[in-house]
Amino acid sequence: MQRTPLIAANWKMNGSAALVEEITRELTGLELSDTEVLICPPATLINRFSAERNFALGAQNVSHEKAGAFTGELSTDLLLEAGARFVIIGHSERRTLNFESDALIAAKLAAAVNAGLTPVLCIGETLEQRQQEKTQQVLARQLDAVYASQPELLAKSVIAYEPIWAIGTGESATPQQAQTTHAFIRQHLKQYDTQSAIRVKLLYGGSVNADNCAALFDQADIDGALVGGASLKPAEFAQICLAVT
Ligand code: G3P
Repeated sequence: MQRTPLIAANWKMNGSAALVEEITRELTGLELSDTEVLICPPATLINRFSAERNFALGAQNVSHEKAGAFTGELSTDLLLEAGARFVIIGHSERRTLNFESDALIAAKLAAAVNAGLTPVLCIGETLEQRQQEKTQQVLARQLDAVYASQPELLAKSVIAYEPIWAIGTGESATPQQAQTTHAFIRQHLKQYDTQSAIRVKLLYGGSVNADNCAALFDQADIDGALVGGASLKPAEFAQICLAVT
């Protein structure tokens, strides 16, 4: 089964109007063939992108509430109006720094899908959990929290495996480590819906750069990447987009 590759940029709390211009210039005219490209800038920059572009836009977070007295939050409707079509949900930085629980992440993912946004669900283990051989247990818990009670959401999801020890450290998982884990994730998802598990895009995230991406993309269950630091460098990000084709 052929899955269309997806290369996604997570700018986190970085970027500027100038970077919006630069990345648009860099990606315009790039021969992307079947590859989908997604940029998730800070929400304030989403509507600074021109409508004339060959990539999609996404947010980095969303509220599970529809509207109302939720100071500082952004709803699915606001993100859609700004131009987002995707939203990252459950990034480890939000799980840790903003104390987002599995239950809240499940609610956000359902809200996103119901509104017509494609969620990019992030899952991943800490170094300690990997050393204690608890990786599969942790990932299973994070997946079950979302899909056990709402398996129909899997067909509308993208999933990003981001081992926490590889994020921003310069130490990516090896292609073999990533493939083994992606294969486990896909296998685990089959209990919810076999066809959706085969079709769902599984992205790898964690210190992906222009030098290590090709070997990762060669793996059978790796369908693209969620790129942090290297996505802030337009030329390098463009190279990563081209490497997957
Ligand atoms: O969401 C992307 C991310 O957490 C990976 O960041 O800087 O290691 O590519 P980085």
